[in-house]
Amino acid sequence: MKKYRFEYFASCPSGLEDILAKELSELGAKITVPVRGGVQFEAFHEVAIRAILQSRIASRVFKFLYQFEVNNEKDYYLEATDIKWKSLMDVTHTFRLTTIFGDLPFEREEFRNSQFANLKLKDAIVDYFRHHEGERPSVEKDFPDVSFLARVDRGREKPYLITILYDLCGDPLNQRGYRISKTEAPVKENVAAGILKLCRWEPETEDLIDGMCGSGTFVIEAALMAGGIAPSYLKVEKHLNNPEIKQWTFLNYPWLTKDELLMENFKNILSEIKESSMKGFEKLAKLKGKISGNDLSEMSLLSARDNLRKAKLDKYIELTQVDARVLNPGENKCLFICNPPYGERLEHGEEEKLKALYKGLGDHWKHNFKNKRAALFTGNLEMLKVVGLKTSKRHILYNGDIECRLAEYDLY
Ligand SMILES: C[S@@+](CC[C@H](N)C(=O)[O-])C[C@H]1O[C@@H](n2cnc3c(N)ncnc32)[C@H](O)[C@@H]1O
Repeated sequence: MKKYRFEYFASCPSGLEDILAKELSELGAKITVPVRGGVQFEAFHEVAIRAILQSRIASRVFKFLYQFEVNNEKDYYLEATDIKWKSLMDVTHTFRLTTIFGDLPFEREEFRNSQFANLKLKDAIVDYFRHHEGERPSVEKDFPDVSFLARVDRGREKPYLITILYDLCGDPLNQRGYRISKTEAPVKENVAAGILKLCRWEPETEDLIDGMCGSGTFVIEAALMAGGIAPSYLKVEKHLNNPEIKQWTFLNYPWLTKDELLMENFKNILSEIKESSMKGFEKLAKLKGKISGNDLSEMSLLSARDNLRKAKLDKYIELTQVDARVLNPGENKCLFICNPPYGERLEHGEEEKLKALYKGLGDHWKHNFKNKRAALFTGNLEMLKVVGLKTSKRHILYNGDIECRLAEYDLY
């Protein structure tokens, strides 16, 4: 059985892998394998903790634990009972298991489905604890103390290669804690941050206007970037107020928490984040007016206001209510972001309305956006053609399961 020490995997929305790899390198990670949907990296544990607290792009960070090959499910159970589970969790912890399958070139007779594979691993963990501690931990699907990921791939010497990883995060990292109110089809927080990076937005040189801000995701992520505020700042604050409630599952991982130096470094990172957030808010006070949101719908604006308040950013971001097709971009250089409705389930006549919206945006930009930049993010690939402007760049991105396009326009 192979035991890993310093290998990690950070997952992210598809299309943002390169940006995530750059972010992780800047935090001190050595990138080993960029793959679809994430980045594998080697790092000291402190760097992995920094990734959890400071990455704007990662969805989750996993630590590689063990890898072994098996012939069948029985083997899997036996190998898994050999793992020293008490170094990974306490018997009092609740746990969750997730199994994913890589490309297997044959009918998987033994590993019939992920529930069945989960069951084998669960039996191994429970039996291990019963044998060594006389009691067993319980499974918890929604809010477990610890969470494991098992991958089943094609083996070299035996049919199946099993990799066990530890989910160090718990809740996905894109759930920053400010989204208390949602509108239809909000963009994921890390997708919004990734789009701002893909567009190379520089707060020092360009204003940012979100013409269809919905629940405010782009303007909030932009403000956090402009202020240099870590995306985990709200969770850090909660942790400092009440360390008993674990904001990240790595705090239940005995192998890490027993490392006194690492825990000391963790405390220092928390203080660093708290301090830089305070400085970030001061910086944002000076940047007032540079980031603004707009939406036609009263409901969307109510939702954006709730989220901005929760994010403690309401003082720094202005919201307006006009049709994005007549919104005046002002004199400054700016990046005008727009995430129009996709029209997933179009009723009769709605397609025409949607076309008029996308065409109207294109016409407005053509006539009134001299020397500005615009970026349109949509899950409706057909509608992009209707905009009628030449794109300077296009990117394929996923917002959840939906394949989307980000189209950039340099306007003259
Ligand atoms: C897909 S949602 C945007 C979601 C947003 N990015 C978020 O993360 O919450 C589209 C938004 O466009 C707004 N909208 C639709 N037509 C508009 C128009 N003509 N002008 C301004 N906003 C409009 C809707 O009210 C809705 O809030």
